[in-house]
Amino acid sequence: MCGIVGYIGCEQAGPFLLDGLERLEYRGYDSAGVCLNTGSELFVKKAKGKLKVLKDLTENGKTLHGTVGIGHTRWATHGEPSDVNAHPHLSESGRFAVVHNGIIENYQQLKDYLTSKGIAFRSETDTEVIAQLIEYYYKGDLVDTVIKVLEKLEGSYALGVISKDNPDEIIAVRKESPLIIGLGENENYLASDVTAILSRTKTILRLENNEIAILGRDGVKIITTDKDEVHKDTETVEWDVSAAEKGGYEHFMFKEIMEQPTAIAETISPRIRNGRVVLDEIKLSDEELKQFTKINILACGSAYHVGVVAKYIFEKMLRIPVEADLASEFRYRDPIINDKTLTIVISQSGETADTKEAMKEAQRRGSHVISIVNVVGSAIACESDDVIYTWAGPEIAVATTKAYSTQLAVIYLMALYFGEKLGTVVPEEYTALVNELEMLPAKIEKVLENKAKIQYLASKYFNSRDIFFIGRNIDYALSLEGSLKLKEISYIHSEAYAAGELKHGTISLIEKGTPVIALVTHEELIGKMVSNIEEVKTRGAQVMCIACDDHPEMEQVGQTIFIPKVCDMLLPSLAVIPLQLFAYYVASLKGCDIDKPRNLAKSVTVE
Ligand code: F6R
Repeated sequence: MCGIVGYIGCEQAGPFLLDGLERLEYRGYDSAGVCLNTGSELFVKKAKGKLKVLKDLTENGKTLHGTVGIGHTRWATHGEPSDVNAHPHLSESGRFAVVHNGIIENYQQLKDYLTSKGIAFRSETDTEVIAQLIEYYYKGDLVDTVIKVLEKLEGSYALGVISKDNPDEIIAVRKESPLIIGLGENENYLASDVTAILSRTKTILRLENNEIAILGRDGVKIITTDKDEVHKDTETVEWDVSAAEKGGYEHFMFKEIMEQPTAIAETISPRIRNGRVVLDEIKLSDEELKQFTKINILACGSAYHVGVVAKYIFEKMLRIPVEADLASEFRYRDPIINDKTLTIVISQSGETADTKEAMKEAQRRGSHVISIVNVVGSAIACESDDVIYTWAGPEIAVATTKAYSTQLAVIYLMALYFGEKLGTVVPEEYTALVNELEMLPAKIEKVLENKAKIQYLASKYFNSRDIFFIGRNIDYALSLEGSLKLKEISYIHSEAYAAGELKHGTISLIEKGTPVIALVTHEELIGKMVSNIEEVKTRGAQVMCIACDDHPEMEQVGQTIFIPKVCDMLLPSLAVIPLQLFAYYVASLKGCDIDKPRNLAKSVTVE
């Protein structure tokens, strides 16, 4: 939530700031702004709306002057999206400017104090108190002042600070919210995420909580809040700049859907050696693994939906009870969890506040945490006991697709790995499943080839008011994802229902013409599903089915998208593709802003 960039160097900062913000726009897009030190003043330009407004106002940053500057793209928390609430925020006299990602929980108290001292506030944001506090405490040394201000702040923050009097420095600090430093030649960068700086440098430093970075043109110094110097190794980012660009596609979402076979292959292949699943990342011994009596899965949104799929798979293959929990709920319900519970945390960004806090709660209660994360070096990846990375590459579209699919791939790997260790998967089944898993990317390619039919069905339904998704077992877990994908990007109301549950209330919503998307991929449940489909058809529903190609008779039941037959465990990876494409085409036909749906942001770093 919210993206921060900063530049200090010998070139004009404007074009980089605008380019960096564009690459971070997925983090928030209700307003944006930049502040540059022109030599005589801190010049601020801010605009409500998507970044394009600011780009047009500044001719992509070319009309801005100054070789040091900070920028911000906002997802509003305190104060509506507006020019005045957009960041950067200036102190009262205009000597200091601040960009912030996170929430200052005690901002009202601080604001009341400063107001009582006669300081006038311009915005409704929590961030402005930081700029005002800096000016209030400033005695000639910006670093000392920032350290003093940090003592007053409660909450989470990544901050970039510049001063009118010092055109040779950017101060950056983080607590809980992400921030990285990019190292160039005679220039250095600040960003919430590496995608903002990939076009300039791949050499980065990661700031840890409460570390302060002092960025100059010739170098970066990192200190603690006690002013002890911290010496860090640089990291080289492996992502290629093209991975964070559209590459000729109209939308990132479509590009990312099409990238799924590759992303899954990259996630699976290095972990299958000589027909065996090898998860070196898991440090637990076989004995320790056998001690677990329960698995607990924590995540939010689509990552939670992966957790619901995992519940079905793990319980079937490992014979261990599994709870999939919404991270935001888990934290506040005094969960029954201890050192006999294995916790699996799933997060694309590795920064989701609720997931991170739920993870810490599980750790406090003695549970071993394995995380499944896409962003290398993110907070969840670093703070979990073991981390398994999904090698999906950068995911830019707000609606997740390839991250969801690679998370599923890791679940399959874990099911096989644990199943072998616990002896719950017999060798023949193990070998057959590993073989099928290796063929999964090619099968996904086949489903993607069928996109014209999905586009045609989207053209039939895109004007609908409500669309229902139904399924049983893993198909139900998948229908949750299909429904979320559709509603978040097309704004069509949608619900996902366990097919057997419909007649306990929801069927009253079905009327003539209501579209129902039925997932019918599970052999042993086809009969039950067909009965549920007949029930809604009788009430006037138009039914679209997703079924395996060994059941051509499904075409008589509803308009059907066929997917190749694979073993039950792998079915969700194939069946989710038509659901993603359907949501994409519907949103496209409705003219929605697919990559940046209203009110959303990709990385949810507030609770
Ligand atoms: C939906 C979507 C979100 C995320 C959720 C968790 O398309 O992307 O529901 O899945 O916000 O985010 P991560 O995985 O970053 O923790």
